[in-house]
Amino acid sequence: MSKDKYFIIDFDSTFTQVEALDELGAISLQNHPERSQLLDQIKEITDSAMAGQSSFSKGLTERLALLQAHQNHLPQLISRLREKVSESIRRNRDFLHQYADQIYIISSGFKEFITPIVTEYGIKEENVYANTFKVDAQGNLVGFDEANPLCLDKGKIRLLEQLALPGDVYVLGDGYTDYEIKEAGLANKFYAFTENVVRDNVVAKAEHIAPTLDEFLYQNKLPMAISYPKNRISVLLLENIHPQAVELYRREGYQVETISGALSEEELCEKIKNVSILGIRSKTQVTRRVLEHANRLMCVGAFCIGTNQIDLNACLEAGITVFNAPYSNTRSVVELALGEIIMLSRNVLDKSNKMHQGKWDKSAKGSFEVRDKKLGIVGYGNIGAQLSVLAEAMGMEVYYYDVVEKLQLGNARKCHSLRELLEKVDIVTLHVDGRPENKNLIGAEEFAAMKDGVIFLNLSRGHVVDIEALVQSIKSGKVSGAGVDVFPEEPATNSDPFESELCGLPNVILTPHVGGSTSEAQENIANFVPNRIMDYINSGNTYGSVNFPNLQLPELKNAHRLIHIHANVPGVLASINQVLAQNQVNILGQYLKTNERVGYVITDIDKAYDKQVVNDMKQVPHTIKFRILY
Ligand SMILES: NC(=O)c1ccc[n+]([C@@H]2O[C@H](COP(=O)([O-])OP(=O)(O)OC[C@H]3O[C@@H](n4cnc5c(N)ncnc54)[C@H](O)[C@@H]3O)[C@@H](O)[C@H]2O)c1
Repeated sequence: MSKDKYFIIDFDSTFTQVEALDELGAISLQNHPERSQLLDQIKEITDSAMAGQSSFSKGLTERLALLQAHQNHLPQLISRLREKVSESIRRNRDFLHQYADQIYIISSGFKEFITPIVTEYGIKEENVYANTFKVDAQGNLVGFDEANPLCLDKGKIRLLEQLALPGDVYVLGDGYTDYEIKEAGLANKFYAFTENVVRDNVVAKAEHIAPTLDEFLYQNKLPMAISYPKNRISVLLLENIHPQAVELYRREGYQVETISGALSEEELCEKIKNVSILGIRSKTQVTRRVLEHANRLMCVGAFCIGTNQIDLNACLEAGITVFNAPYSNTRSVVELALGEIIMLSRNVLDKSNKMHQGKWDKSAKGSFEVRDKKLGIVGYGNIGAQLSVLAEAMGMEVYYYDVVEKLQLGNARKCHSLRELLEKVDIVTLHVDGRPENKNLIGAEEFAAMKDGVIFLNLSRGHVVDIEALVQSIKSGKVSGAGVDVFPEEPATNSDPFESELCGLPNVILTPHVGGSTSEAQENIANFVPNRIMDYINSGNTYGSVNFPNLQLPELKNAHRLIHIHANVPGVLASINQVLAQNQVNILGQYLKTNERVGYVITDIDKAYDKQVVNDMKQVPHTIKFRILY
């Protein structure tokens, strides 16, 4: 521990998220008829004083007069402030305790409420410098000790001169009076603390910005609660990802940039540098070339189901985890499929079109209930299985075919081949994934195998159906109605035209790939993906990752977690354990999972360890990535 550094921390809007006198006003003026005007006035004076635009002592006098506060208000104020200690201060309690001798709270606020708060974080009472209230006989807070330099303009400077700290002085604060300490030559460094409030004129003058205490500690190589300041994690979100995702990442302290459209490979190669988390939807291609330009990328979030647009192996080899949202829009697709099955069974679309043209064509011909009809689901995955349950609830007889063994839900019946299913059912609906082998899974031969007058739906992937064969089958009457949501070629944007031979055919519902496009689904996705990614960053948990070995880890308790990603070749685990043994590290738990390309080893170790371990771990042959969680 270096003894020659002193850390001066401001209280209002730095140690706590708020200005204490504003909070006191909210309490003391609770029932005052002009409460909101008075509070605005107090806030204005505070801001003006903090920005260095008005006399501090005058402002303090004015604020106290407006506050009409009593000493009985203080306990309530203290408990409010206790709840509003800044997040990064709260999580770095260990640093405050460990460096208590070197930390000073210097504030133009009042000791009466500052001391009880900061001492809970290990700050020494004798290191708290602040004003004190003058109280009248009735207990009203009527003034302050005028002999205290902190009630005066440039009070912090005067105090620092008196203290004459024998070493380097680092100041962390949000206000102009904090900056003035450095300006007066009494501090070596001033960090504008912007976690709670950003004062433009202070930030403009500051040579260092600390968006959190973590950043301050990181820059000064001091011990901190998290392995990496979260504001150093930069997130790039493309393709209009739902604002909820932006909000979640910002709340976590990450830096977020959003771009409304997709980027070309060229543009993404340019943009990806320094990005830690990339969020995309279906249009952005994450190629090997893009990854070669990424120097900090940890995760790719696919804010959709499909991940064909991402080179998963290239990500794996670079130690980049990919997460998607496999179930978030399942229900939406199922509801659309069900709706279309009913609409097509009743020929609603054509009837409705005629009505719009003023034609009344009342007839039951070609209209059927869906009850007791045989529904054939090809691909009994998340969507297929969910559809199976809801279709049965409507009285349909469900058949399914899947290339892998699946749990049969309800009374659904399994078919042993695609052909068996096609021959058996009245309605065929595709819910297979987009693997290349599924190209033209349904072509002329398959349509020929279906019952005459079959209803056909594809809400999976466009290339799965031979469109020409579908068109012919509709024209010949083999297919009596079709619902198509996905196409082999889809327009890149809403302003590009859509062209298909399916256009204009009878009883055909065409939708622009909107099966999963509902508000609920977008919100589900926007919650699901960031939560998986933040869990991975904070705990190493890869559960649900599309490309990484899936490890669900216990919570990290009183330990450090070493996260090692390496090429899956024999002997790496032995080398890791050799490094740990050589450094006399006490292993509390170890978890390993591999896939054909990478190995993922998590080692929880004792809090006490030599920094050399980190260097040695990075040197283990075949290491792809290494990080440590505190
Ligand atoms: N229209 C939309 O807006 C929309 C929205 C979401 C998902 N989707 C698409 O829906 C499809 C299904 O999604 P999911 O979440 O249910 O996927 P999933 O991976 O859970 O299920 C796919 C299932 O298909 C099976 N399968 C693959 N090839 C097959 C084949 N040739 N024959 C039979 N079974 C086969 C797989 O074994 C798996 O069980 C995907 O293609 C997805 O891209 C479309």
